[in-house]
Amino acid sequence: MARTLGNTGPTVSDLGLGAMGMSDMYGPADRGESIATIHAALDAGVTLIDTGDFYGMGHNELLIAEALRDRNRDDVTISVKFGGLRDPGGAWIGYDARPAAVKTFLSYTLQRLGTDHVDIYRPSRVDPNVPIEETIGAIAEMVEAGYVRYVGLSEVGPETIRRAAAVHPISDLQIEYSLMSRGIERGILQTCRELGIGVTAYGVLSRGLLSGSWSKERKLGRDFRATSPRFQGENLERNLKLVDKLREVAEAHGGNVAQLALAWVLTRGDDIVPLIGARRRPQLQDAIAALELRLSADELAQIEAAVPAEAVAGTRYNEVGMKHLDSEQHPAAH
Ligand SMILES: NC(=O)c1ccc[n+]([C@@H]2O[C@H](COP(=O)([O-])OP(=O)(O)OC[C@H]3O[C@@H](n4cnc5c(N)ncnc54)[C@H](OP(=O)(O)O)[C@@H]3O)[C@@H](O)[C@H]2O)c1
Repeated sequence: MARTLGNTGPTVSDLGLGAMGMSDMYGPADRGESIATIHAALDAGVTLIDTGDFYGMGHNELLIAEALRDRNRDDVTISVKFGGLRDPGGAWIGYDARPAAVKTFLSYTLQRLGTDHVDIYRPSRVDPNVPIEETIGAIAEMVEAGYVRYVGLSEVGPETIRRAAAVHPISDLQIEYSLMSRGIERGILQTCRELGIGVTAYGVLSRGLLSGSWSKERKLGRDFRATSPRFQGENLERNLKLVDKLREVAEAHGGNVAQLALAWVLTRGDDIVPLIGARRRPQLQDAIAALELRLSADELAQIEAAVPAEAVAGTRYNEVGMKHLDSEQHPAAH
């Protein structure tokens, strides 16, 4: 299993592992099980691991370093996001993608990961005070110096993609893409393809909504979904009805809801690598089994009819989060 990220990026497994939930965002995670899940992913042939320096403010990178300690570093493509600023309580307090900040964040990341290079380095969001050319230019200098192999982007729209690609080749754009989040199809994917840029898709299970195991009864503590519009009240009820429809298709087909949601993203193009947010081994095994699903055109049509994008209730981030998404600001976005 292998997919190449764009014209200039690395070749990685068909599926990547997103490690965020092992440290942050989705409530408590079990450290031993997280490490066992990373090992199980590597043993199953997964070669791409995605993290961010702000996932647990270093916790996620230290966890990955521990998991990779007895593994061959060169067998793994590590993708790191930077730029998110947070206080000790975890609150989001801005973005910093100035060249000096890029180099400083990278220095800490290399120490925490215990490595001499990051494979793909990307700003998590556009810093409104810094032209993207300056941010990408700083990463390009780090490529030149050997500390970074490839330059990536995250949640940006067509104009920013073009401006960034004019400074340095871009391996991939990381962006939310699922049956429930199809904004990338309005001009962004086309731009990536025109410029030979790959896509690493996150939220393919819509952060658990499309997992098949979400329910209205699930209690949320400190969790991203506690303020995510799609998980609130009436929106959640409407969205779970869509999941029920997808479950009917899954029951007829033989997979489960999560597998169909993932398999659908895999059919969107060989240039798209889904990142699965598995943090326990059974979830990972479920996802890996989805790679074997072969969906006919008729089944794909049934899946899309079960979850029509326009029927999804609520935006994918809250109001503040949406404002930070350059990918949502371009003219064709709405
Ligand atoms: N660039 C960006 O802006 C950005 C933003 C967010 C994430 N990311 C990256 O993308 C990665 C994936 O994103 P995500 O974690 O939000 O995506 P996701 O896979 O859509 O959601 C993860 C959620 O799905 C559940 N889950 C995972 N595998 C499952 C399975 N096989 N069956 C049932 N449930 C399953 C987990 O459940 P439990 O809660 O029960 O464990 C977790 O709640 C992250 O780890 C991160 O590296 C990037």
